[in-house]
Amino acid sequence: MRSVLTQGHQSHSPNRPLKKLVINGGYPLKGSVKISGAKNAALPMMTACILSNHNITLNNVPDLADVRTMRALLDSMGISTSKTLDGSLQLNGGQIKSKYASYDLVKTMRASIMVLGPLLAKHGKAKVSLPGGCAIGARPVDLHIEGLKKLGANIEIKDGYILASAEQLKGSEYHFPIKSVTGTANILMAATLAEGETKILNAACEPEINNLGGLLNLMGAKIKGLGSETITVEGVDNLYEAEIDIIPDRIEAVTMIIAGIITKGEITIENIDPSHIKQPIELIRQCGARFEMFKDALLVSSPDKIKPMNFETQPYPGIPTDIQAQLMALNAIAEGHSKISETIFENRFMHALELKRMGANISIAGNKAEVRGVSKLNPAPVMATDLRASAALILAALSASGETIIDRIYHLDRGYENIEEKLLNIGAKVQRID
Ligand code: EPZ
Repeated sequence: MRSVLTQGHQSHSPNRPLKKLVINGGYPLKGSVKISGAKNAALPMMTACILSNHNITLNNVPDLADVRTMRALLDSMGISTSKTLDGSLQLNGGQIKSKYASYDLVKTMRASIMVLGPLLAKHGKAKVSLPGGCAIGARPVDLHIEGLKKLGANIEIKDGYILASAEQLKGSEYHFPIKSVTGTANILMAATLAEGETKILNAACEPEINNLGGLLNLMGAKIKGLGSETITVEGVDNLYEAEIDIIPDRIEAVTMIIAGIITKGEITIENIDPSHIKQPIELIRQCGARFEMFKDALLVSSPDKIKPMNFETQPYPGIPTDIQAQLMALNAIAEGHSKISETIFENRFMHALELKRMGANISIAGNKAEVRGVSKLNPAPVMATDLRASAALILAALSASGETIIDRIYHLDRGYENIEEKLLNIGAKVQRID
């Protein structure tokens, strides 16, 4: 991941990150793991700094490739960011020089599109590259554009770029035809400085949106209805300084829960908010796993027999699409037949092909997958295709006795902080090689 070298900015290590993970599986994981801050909360909260000329301090920011990419993008616009000793990230949008997000940065991370709303609201113009396609689907940004037009932005698409301008955004009502997480983030941020009231209908209710809304309100925004499908924003003239904690990463938490179960182990997961993973825990109880819940931690122990789980992915508070691959890996060694339906993205089963190389019995038809559990998975060379697929392959490799090599592991580094360290600490035999 190239990053721009500037003062106070993390410099790119001379040697490229090692790109394969070797896992010697078949050992039960035991011990405790601390969950990092949520990637999908940190990213929009970093772009929110554009809305203010004052210091924004984010605590518990995960050290991820995507966070480094977002820092490089902000840096390329003249916004310097600095990591404090205790791992907090300080940003100040006041020094912004350019309102341009180039293709070479946006293509590595679609979340870059979330600079669009803040740039329009604060500076009245933006030139942001259209994010390219992505392994899991077309992932258009038409709803982001429609919503911003509703707030009075003039937007045209030219040579792969979104050219946007707005003298002054005006509050309005925008009804999302389907729920969009980053779409909601973009419109929410733009609405904070629009004139008058904005109503966002069918808004995404993900905890990450609440975390972003919480930051915006601390900065002086007037947002009501966070966590519900109808968010109301009373525009203000300026936003100011704020400091907030990033919430724990609920996707990493469920990934680690499944790691404990799929290896027939028992692990404690610390630094979580159990209210963010209610439905995933209820679903995973169906496989026979036992949970002991605490205020910001849980203990999960594996059953002798893993029973299959039928589910379909849904927007929050339903089963998140970002844990579908990991749950499929668990179903792959369950005793019985399970059905999975992926309702959010049109092509999010690539991990199934890799799991089949390890002996899984999975058939795919459109957005439906049928899994027939096998007694064990076999080690094999496999390749990560996207962030959550790589997590599913790690889980499968941890359960398969023998050595599995997972290639293109850079996908993993986008969303999981220090994953080898965390796994080694609970008894996994894992190492990174080139
Ligand atoms: C966010 O992506 C997450 N990324 C994704 O996590 C997550 O999988 C996804 O939400 C769903 O929960 C970040 O938050 C940075 P959407 P986002 O807009 O916002 C369609 C990960 O692993 N759509 O909620 O891009 C879209 O194609 C990543 O961390 C439009 O058609 O997803 C999809 O089918 C992967 N037009 C559905 O809506 C639009 O303008 C939901 O997408 C926007 C979205």
